[in-house]
Amino acid sequence: MTFASPARVQAAGWGWRYAGRKRPAVADVSFTIEPGERVLLLGASGAGKSTLLAGLAGVLGDDDEGERTGSLRIDGAAPESRHGQVGLVLQDPDAGIVLSKVGDDVAFGCENLGVAASEIPGRVAEALDAVGLDVPLQRPTKALSGGQKQRLVLAGVLAMRPGLLLLDEPTANLDPEGVGEVRASVERAVTSTGATLIVVEHRTPIWVDLMTRVIVLGADGGLLADGAPDQVFAVHGDVLADAGVWVPDRDIGLPVLEQVPAPDALTASALAIAREPGVVVQAGLDLRVPRANATVITGPNGAGKSTLALTLAGLIPEQSGEVRSAPELAGRKGTRPIRWTSRELLTRIGMVFQEPEHQFLAQTLRDELAVGPRALGWDRVKTDAVVDELLERLGLAPLALANPFTLSGGQKRRLSVATVLAGAPEVIVLDEPTFGQDRRGWISLVALLQEEIARGRSIIAVTHDDAVIRHLGGHCIELGIELGAAS
Ligand SMILES: Nc1ncnc2c1ncn2[C@@H]1O[C@H](COP(=O)(O)OP(=O)(O)OP(=O)(O)O)[C@@H](O)[C@H]1O
Ligand SMILES: [Mg+2]
Repeated sequence: MTFASPARVQAAGWGWRYAGRKRPAVADVSFTIEPGERVLLLGASGAGKSTLLAGLAGVLGDDDEGERTGSLRIDGAAPESRHGQVGLVLQDPDAGIVLSKVGDDVAFGCENLGVAASEIPGRVAEALDAVGLDVPLQRPTKALSGGQKQRLVLAGVLAMRPGLLLLDEPTANLDPEGVGEVRASVERAVTSTGATLIVVEHRTPIWVDLMTRVIVLGADGGLLADGAPDQVFAVHGDVLADAGVWVPDRDIGLPVLEQVPAPDALTASALAIAREPGVVVQAGLDLRVPRANATVITGPNGAGKSTLALTLAGLIPEQSGEVRSAPELAGRKGTRPIRWTSRELLTRIGMVFQEPEHQFLAQTLRDELAVGPRALGWDRVKTDAVVDELLERLGLAPLALANPFTLSGGQKRRLSVATVLAGAPEVIVLDEPTFGQDRRGWISLVALLQEEIARGRSIIAVTHDDAVIRHLGGHCIELGIELGAAS
């Protein structure tokens, strides 16, 4: 069996400015990573972590796409010449999926590298096993849940056995069990191959034990810190926390909201459902969403959380049972959200999709945020006031004129939540609202949601994030795989 040997990675005054942007995404970064080191790459949302990984993988493109300074070297050579040795798992799992069947997709990278055909099936099986993705090879990749897609993409990269493994938030969409599995599979891969590892992940506790080193990118260029994990957090903890880094064991500083027991109507009384404002679904389960409270949906990847969220939001028809709103929220065609017009939905139920791109419609952040308010016929002054406040609160003001599709992962997520809040809907459904958030972004998002609850809005949040569950309070529903499969 052949393994690429562990790579040495060097940056010397490296920087990159995307075409059309005034400020560089990364500036003046220097370090040497020895073969076999395991680096946790941190930095605020937008600090340039994904950009640096793309640079190391040799996929940033040419002069049309941006301007580079300094140099990056993998084993002394330009990253563009080292494609076979470098495995990159992108932040957006969809972007890493190429083929329509699971088995073909995992094999794709190996085929491109010219791995002997007889060796590929073994590598594919081993890689799928390593990431704990137990689905038939013929399963359409489209049919996988977000978390399953993340494992699929990781399997494709592990199958190539690269000497440098670059993982951009590889566990952001996974359930806790999946996080453990992916971490364990990465650990197995790097211990058996000795590959150099660079992981970007905001939630530091997941990875920190495995890492020999932490490198923190500064938002304005350079490095904020570089050293052994314990030492970096002990010495630079305050600075890093202020800069948005999740320093382990730091208080969040937001009130924790009360957990309430399941509302009585859970025992499937349709009448009780209609008595109070809110939305109800009966799809293998019965649930009532109370007003001025949070309803948090958790459960393993593949349990149908996103499907349930879309159903509640009136965007896909119920597979069984009925979603009905309270009478006060009824549209012209009654209380079933699926029959409402998109304009009626705007002020009644807003949906934040798991994948932020799915909801971007406009050319700039400012226009994107104004889509809802304009559709509602608000005047310019009111629209601007709402848009400006959201831009400011979510740290997006400097990007007001940027194209939503060019944002960093965390910025996209914050924008997608903001576009829904802009229309001030009574019920807000959010699928993984905090994934990819740095500490600052997380706090501002959760604070906004807490305010919406205080204003009497109903929040339905699908999440794996324990801190979200604690801080939104309300009532928590755990979906099981069986239930999800049946509904
Ligand atoms: N394709 C692009 N075109 C223009 N600007 C971009 C593009 N991709 C990223 N940027 C900008 O470059 C900066 C760095 O983005 P990058 O995605 O590297 O950040 P990040 O550290 O990975 O953030 P996050 O933690 O939110 O994922 C941001 O200001 C972002 O808006
Ligand atoms: Mg990123």
